[in-house]
Amino acid sequence: MRRLYQRHHLLKCLSALAGLSRWLIGLTFVAGGMTKAADPAGMALKLGSYADALGLHALFHASPLIGNGAATALGTAEWMLGISLLCGFKRASTLRLTLGVMMAMTGLTVWLYVASPISDCGCFGEAIRLTNGQTLAKNIVLLACSLFLLTRLRHRLQLSITAEYGHFALLSTLCFAVVTALYSLHFLPVADFGPYVKGTDIQAAFDSTPDTDDNRPSTGDADASGITGAHPLNFYVYRADTGEDLTFELLADTSYTFLLTLPETQTADDGTCDRIADLYDLCTDRRIHFYMATAADSAGIAEWKDLTGANYPILCAEETELRAMVRSNPGLLLLKDGVVVNKWSCNNLPDADRPATIFIAAPDHRPLLGGGWKALGWYLVIITLIVIADRLRIAILFYQHHIYFKRLKPLHTMRKKIVAGNWKMNLNLQEGVALAKELNAALTADKPACDVVICTPFIHLASVAAEIDPALIGLGAENCADKVKGAYTGEVSAEQVKSTGATYVILGHSERRAYYHETPEILKEKVNLALANGLKVIFCIGEVLEEREAEKQNDVVKAQLEGSLFDLSAEEFKSIILAYEPVWAIGTGKTATAEQAEEMHAFIRATIADKFGADAAENVSILYGGSCKPSNAKEIFAKPNVDGGLIGGAALKAADFKGIIDAWKD
Ligand code: 13P
Repeated sequence: MRRLYQRHHLLKCLSALAGLSRWLIGLTFVAGGMTKAADPAGMALKLGSYADALGLHALFHASPLIGNGAATALGTAEWMLGISLLCGFKRASTLRLTLGVMMAMTGLTVWLYVASPISDCGCFGEAIRLTNGQTLAKNIVLLACSLFLLTRLRHRLQLSITAEYGHFALLSTLCFAVVTALYSLHFLPVADFGPYVKGTDIQAAFDSTPDTDDNRPSTGDADASGITGAHPLNFYVYRADTGEDLTFELLADTSYTFLLTLPETQTADDGTCDRIADLYDLCTDRRIHFYMATAADSAGIAEWKDLTGANYPILCAEETELRAMVRSNPGLLLLKDGVVVNKWSCNNLPDADRPATIFIAAPDHRPLLGGGWKALGWYLVIITLIVIADRLRIAILFYQHHIYFKRLKPLHTMRKKIVAGNWKMNLNLQEGVALAKELNAALTADKPACDVVICTPFIHLASVAAEIDPALIGLGAENCADKVKGAYTGEVSAEQVKSTGATYVILGHSERRAYYHETPEILKEKVNLALANGLKVIFCIGEVLEEREAEKQNDVVKAQLEGSLFDLSAEEFKSIILAYEPVWAIGTGKTATAEQAEEMHAFIRATIADKFGADAAENVSILYGGSCKPSNAKEIFAKPNVDGGLIGGAALKAADFKGIIDAWKD
């Protein structure tokens, strides 16, 4: 009792640990995916640094589509994997994928930690910046959690959503992540975690002494995301023609200043030059400063001027800093008093004909205010609705089952409790006869509280029949032919089995299906012949490991029933005993949990009810088979839909078999 109590507590702790690990990894993935999808242009810059460090500069920078596409795909995949984990959707494949991803990520961060090619891995975009050491520690913890989840705790992980509705949740996440990323690429990031978020006081943050060269930004001390570790901003601009430093003048200006940011000219969108020209005219009329800041060289600047007719003053700035200011090329920044008042992508530049709409943006320090929160809110509403719909559906099904079984309760006790042994190809004739005698004596001395059956190889049948009391022990064969009689060398017909004194036969055992290629059609013939000869059939069904891991066990078992038994009449079905034997549990020492067995048995009974009616379902005995032992039989047999066991290895010793039979005693 005490051991049982301790075991119960251990299982509870393991379940809690599994839940905790799942939330830890799931939330990390979702957060990582969301921040990447919210700012794919920022992530693309980070990926560019990785590509540079790996010597793939030319390939990666061949087109902006590569970086933006990779960032979008990465964010979306990470977000979806996180949601799969949190929902407990397709547990086995999700956990395998998670482990694979964590192994790859940990390998990458070991390299980052050792070689330090870039300063920040970019796991959470710019929302949370971790040092390489912190990232490595985080990944080691997550890797350990995912390994533990996959190898030890997979079956302890509760499902939060069924497979059917899990698909909806994943599809919604896919659509939402892709739309978020495309929106952020076209306009500006829905969540701006960068250093130039609206409302930032550059003047206050920028502690600059631009006259000293040490302090001037250089490409070496800023990584590609545009932020340096020690100094949050590297705002530094000077005139392209004279080299005059305008940083302080620009930041100290108490009126509005427009800064058109153009990191480079090759991929810049020049389709907006008319709108920019209109804005410049407006600024000239109103005596508002308007500059273009670019990292292009003099040839690039000349080309841009040619292309767009630009005649606004041109400043030089660092490319990474310009990309950090506005995630667009070109982009537009509105400054006042050294504070970022507003910013626009080239795809939604302000309209010079409506100046009243341009200068009204209020400072906003919160990166997710506005579009970001709204979008996230919608996503959460959709996911919550999917989970609620799923829970409701399960509750209704549960209620229907509850009513169904309540109605059947009075009949419940009529169902036969059976423990059957399957000797398989073990024991010679003398050993078999001795075992049968020993068992007969034991059961004569201590009457069983259930029906007992032993199924032996053909050669034992007649001899064993002579040694056992048929009132105590039923006798069965392990197989019979699918032919009535005739020239079928080596086969044993159902009629021949019956003539030995046997009254049962096992059919459909997974070993016969797997090694002797017995198809549902062959089994159907065998079942018909066995019934025609007055034998009771112990019909085995069960899924292999891959099928369970793919959560297809219900479909598999249903197909096995349909394929061989569904042409029987309700009357004929009365001579059938079912045995659920998950193939992964047979002879492996790996028993299905009592809950797994009960879940399947209830499903099998419901399937029988659908086909043969409630009475047939309530009266059919469903045995569990697969590493059943005296130590676990009681727990499994205690489940309401488990009516006994079909025992392999443990049926070869009278004491073990008797131990299992005794599990039916109080
Ligand atoms: P084990 O009890 O040895 O796992 O075998 C189960 C079985 O196959 C019974 O038919």
